[in-house]
Amino acid sequence: MIKPLIVAIDGYSSCGKSTIAKALAKHACSTYVDTGAMYRAVALFMTRQNVTQPESIVKELAQVHIDFTRTPDGAQHVTLNGEDVESQIRTLEIGNRASEISQIKEVRAFLVAQQQKMGEQTGVVMDGRDIGTVVFPNADLKLFLTARPEVRAQRRFNELVEKGQQPVYEEVLADVNARDYRDTHRAESPLRQAEDAIVVDNSDMTPDEQLKVVCELYDKKFQEVYDRYHR
Ligand code: DC
Repeated sequence: MIKPLIVAIDGYSSCGKSTIAKALAKHACSTYVDTGAMYRAVALFMTRQNVTQPESIVKELAQVHIDFTRTPDGAQHVTLNGEDVESQIRTLEIGNRASEISQIKEVRAFLVAQQQKMGEQTGVVMDGRDIGTVVFPNADLKLFLTARPEVRAQRRFNELVEKGQQPVYEEVLADVNARDYRDTHRAESPLRQAEDAIVVDNSDMTPDEQLKVVCELYDKKFQEVYDRYHR
């Protein structure tokens, strides 16, 4: 039987990875995994426990159980030790903490092992920073999403306003730039484009245009895999 494809989507923060990954998973009848949510859940746990030192963070990891659940309206939410923490993880503070703790080797190993398991049996559309380079170096399709920092900051700003927060645009832009720097310069699995990834710059695309591009790439890849299987 043909296994559904493994699709790796990497890219900078706030460039719409999760929106496109979710839509593509629907198109492909596949499972969507938001790995950023997993780093955010670990960050939330450590923040609540007031644990800040890397050695203590590593020790506490054994207490962290992350999963995904579906709400009655079909949305996917992350759970931390059984508690739905979807809204608590979507703040600037937790995003920054996630970026910080993601520099710790043991935190990455802890989450990467779980992510690899999630894609083992079934196909998956997974988004993050290291999916095409570390988690699934043999992914069937690798996409690297990007957009200009100002465009990403505006999108993030709009999202925060929609959530009832009161962000300052300049702060959001500074945060986007700082996060980019940290994510691309950390020693452990920095964000980088896999050699065989296809770059999609969505700065000037509407969500529909982008989805069309990405679905076409997926369909083409699926056809290739199918033809190889039936040769
Ligand atoms: O995609 P996001 O903004 O929800 O991710 C939050 C942070 O988690 C991001 O700044 C870096 C880290 N992260 C990572 O290091 N590796 C991943 N695969 C996903 C996220």
